[in-house]
Amino acid sequence: MCEICGASWERVIEKIKANQDTIIKTVGWRPTCSCKNEGKGKSIVLDPFMGSGTTALVAFEHERNYLGIELNPEYIKLANRRLERRKRQGLQVSLL
Ligand SMILES: C[S@@+](CC[C@H](N)C(=O)[O-])C[C@H]1O[C@@H](n2cnc3c(N)ncnc32)[C@H](O)[C@@H]1O
Repeated sequence: MCEICGASWERVIEKIKANQDTIIKTVGWRPTCSCKNEGKGKSIVLDPFMGSGTTALVAFEHERNYLGIELNPEYIKLANRRLERRKRQGLQVSLL
């Protein structure tokens, strides 16, 4: 979110047609305000349904802090593995 006006960021999506279905893929995030503030490092992305950690990866790629909640222990392991792998590749990730 913007640390000046508090406006949230929104997903940038790509719609991919596959037969009858449309797959929606998140390809990035963008501000919804015109403050020209990147807000890096200060805001926290709260993800109450962490799943395999895609939102977490995108948050860290945009230098945000991230707090994820997940019910299923198997998904937690999967998300941690994905984040550890990206960390080894140089992404700034701090896991608690
Ligand atoms: C569609 S996935 C979330 C995808 C995720 N936001 C991402 O970026 O990859 C939904 C997840 O929410 C989890 N979930 C469902 N109910 C929950 C609850 N009450 N508390 C925490 N996690 C829950 C499920 O286990 C599942 O992994």
